[in-house]
Amino acid sequence: MSTPEHSRHGPSTSPPGGTAPPDARGSASESAPAVVLDRLRRDYVVRAPVAGSRRRRRQVVRAVDDVSLRIERGETVGFVGANGAGKSTTIKMMTGILQPSSGTVRVLGRDPVPERRHLAREIGVVFGQRSQLWWDLPLRDSYRILASMHRLTDRVREARLERLVEGLDLGGFLNRPVRQLSLGQRMRGEVAAALLHSPGLVVLDEPTIGLDMVSKEGLRRFLREDRAERGTTLFLTTHDMGDVERLCDRIVVVNSGTVAYDGPLESFRERLGAPRELTVDLEEPAAALDLPGTASTLAVEADGIRHRIAFSGAELTVPALLTAINRQAEVRDLALTEPAIEDLVRQIYARDRR
Ligand SMILES: Nc1ncnc2c1ncn2[C@@H]1O[C@H](COP(=O)(O)OP(=O)(O)OP(=O)(O)O)[C@@H](O)[C@H]1O
Ligand SMILES: [Mg+2]
Repeated sequence: MSTPEHSRHGPSTSPPGGTAPPDARGSASESAPAVVLDRLRRDYVVRAPVAGSRRRRRQVVRAVDDVSLRIERGETVGFVGANGAGKSTTIKMMTGILQPSSGTVRVLGRDPVPERRHLAREIGVVFGQRSQLWWDLPLRDSYRILASMHRLTDRVREARLERLVEGLDLGGFLNRPVRQLSLGQRMRGEVAAALLHSPGLVVLDEPTIGLDMVSKEGLRRFLREDRAERGTTLFLTTHDMGDVERLCDRIVVVNSGTVAYDGPLESFRERLGAPRELTVDLEEPAAALDLPGTASTLAVEADGIRHRIAFSGAELTVPALLTAINRQAEVRDLALTEPAIEDLVRQIYARDRR
């Protein structure tokens, strides 16, 4: 079997290994919250070029600025915000890759940097933009290596792998080298690698980046099933509101390194009043449909066959609209468009300024 010395495509992330400090067994409490961030801050020092000179000026970039957050075990949290908001930096501090500049992090009761090795047994991490698989080895071999790092018995490994292969539909490419996989195949492989040791906390940094709708839905379905089976805590970042909708009960919005919104997903859109858009194509042209809602919650543009219905508010749901439409016309096709997270974040800031 191959050894961990094989080159990996990306930097080492979650599995144990490397230069972890001595055992810190016993320092974590079973009852500790999944994540506690307290006044967390992280600066990066960069050398910026100076115009007209070959010198470089020292510059401090504040990536995370005073973030406090408490996540209980079993929660599902979508951590969203624009590019550069500080999401990945926060995750790197949670997983022990980066030391905070100030403030504290506790993950499952542990201090991630000194206790990284222990934490790696209890959390599963996916960085969508990087790989934790061995690029030149068949996918199956990466799982063998990871399983031995996690000290899984053969029986436990095979049982878990069977579940992952079935749930993530990996069967068709388990024996192919990772570098030959399509993005969607690799991402499913990454998720399986992160979940192989059945971690209690799953941290996903843009797990659906670059995936088509079918692959996204498949991945989301499996993540939901696995969570339902094992009761894990889920923390994910994404630019796709669909991920948050399907996977999270709570949403935390970050902007410029600070928390701009933290609350249940159900009240998020409602409070913002951001409309969703349902586009319906009818079998036969119809002038206007009689739909529930008021002028403030519903706006319809119709051109006979195609009806674009923008709707907002808690009482106007897709099933309610479809029930009304089906009473009046036959539907040939329909599509639902969610507002982009970036639009919602912008609205939060506009609202705060007001
Ligand atoms: N290694 C680094 N050195 C210097 N600056 C960095 C480094 N990593 C991140 N930054 C800066 O810190 C800020 C936050 O970056 P981070 O990667 O955490 O954002 P993000 O919310 O994950 O963004 P994205 O949605 O694009 O992934 C940005 O201004 C970024 O340019
Ligand atoms: Mg990021």
